[in-house]
Amino acid sequence: MTNPSATGRGVWSSKTGFILAASGSAIGLGNIWRFPYMVGEGGGAAFVVIYLGFVFLLGAAVMLAELALGRHTDRNAVGAFAATAPGTLWKLVGMLGVITGVAILSFYAVIAGWTVGYLFKTVTGSFSQTITAQESQAIFESFAASPIANVGLLFVFLAVTSIVVWRGVSGGIELVSKTLMPVLLALLVLLAIRSVTLSGAGAGLEFYLAPDFSRISAGTFPAALGQAFFSLSLGMGAMITYGSYVSKKINLVTSTGIICLFDTLIALLAGLIIFPALFHAGLSPESGPGLVFQVLPTLFAELPAGQLFGAAFFLLLAIAALTSTIALLEVPVSYVIDEWGWSRGKAVAATAIVTFLIGVPSALASGAVPFFSDLPGGGFLSLMSIVFGSYALTIGSLGLAIFVGYRWGVQAAVAEIESEGVTFGLKHAWGFLLRFLAPVGITAILVYIIATQNYF
Ligand code: TRP
Repeated sequence: MTNPSATGRGVWSSKTGFILAASGSAIGLGNIWRFPYMVGEGGGAAFVVIYLGFVFLLGAAVMLAELALGRHTDRNAVGAFAATAPGTLWKLVGMLGVITGVAILSFYAVIAGWTVGYLFKTVTGSFSQTITAQESQAIFESFAASPIANVGLLFVFLAVTSIVVWRGVSGGIELVSKTLMPVLLALLVLLAIRSVTLSGAGAGLEFYLAPDFSRISAGTFPAALGQAFFSLSLGMGAMITYGSYVSKKINLVTSTGIICLFDTLIALLAGLIIFPALFHAGLSPESGPGLVFQVLPTLFAELPAGQLFGAAFFLLLAIAALTSTIALLEVPVSYVIDEWGWSRGKAVAATAIVTFLIGVPSALASGAVPFFSDLPGGGFLSLMSIVFGSYALTIGSLGLAIFVGYRWGVQAAVAEIESEGVTFGLKHAWGFLLRFLAPVGITAILVYIIATQNYF
């Protein structure tokens, strides 16, 4: 169809630039904060096995479909459906994506605020070199329960995100992620080595790597599937939007493979850091959203120059979160600009204010306000994370698979993928995944949780 550069919309300058931007969106708190606590609550290695199966069977297939649809239509999350199925209700799938983007950003920015708070705590020496698990837990609990710190940091993080998105995702942030992502990776490897060599690490490695399927329940499947879509930034049109900036020359199949592998590598490394250190310190794997924040200070205490490593780690984590919040905000913003005709500045300001207001209850849900903290499912933040971070993305991915599989059509999608001489050897397998395995598998999981009422 249209060539991105010919329409005046943005276009990634190279395959590397695109892969880094898409990986920057995928890699974030989902890998380092959410993955370990979902594994902890989901029963350990058995969850990891199911998660990996979902990433490579369903996640990769959905990612390729989103990228192809975005590149073909050259549109935002809603516009892509409107362009390929004009006058139908399919654009509601895109609308759900836009709403989900705002909802995810509202709680994601709260946790991103925690990384900034912990950066300050580390720099100012709140964590001693002899910190115990109980002390670390107490520090986390009092921090998480502070209304001013949480709402303030939420505001700050959204403000920084807004400034970057308002200026347009320029070379600046791409350059920053390009140079800092490898540093984050190096730091993760280093921390993993230290963690697995701690005394008592064996029990953590066993929990994390030796599957015990008696530990899982009905709720494990939707949780693992939701985590796969969350971590890969799928099911809400983010990859449609990013795909719309990809040139026809770029091979979407190999790009999808690289992004999925890279995202998985970072998540697996995060687990390798958290679980040995957690068992070493004697904390509970079921600590929920506070898990990594309670475990990490005890790990930094085991390192020479731990304060320096700790500060570097939280700084890099905040930057990884920023490259994701930018992409999250870009989804509703590009919709409002394209479809409502608003200026970028106005779109960013309005979206950010709405997101902030929805985010306040999440900021107050870790002890600050009992009403928000005691809601079913572990409080308002956990509830948002489950409803939007797992279920809405799962439903969005289901809608997308059916749309590309049956409405737009596998043939048309393959033609898009194979433009400019690319050959897609696995196209039949991909068509099968999209038309049968993804719809049937995802529907079965959704029906099962509704039938068993095992929502959380
Ligand atoms: N994938 C991101 C992470 O793991 C979170 C996320 C979900 C996201 N959906 C997104 C980021 C859409 C950008 C755009 O941290």
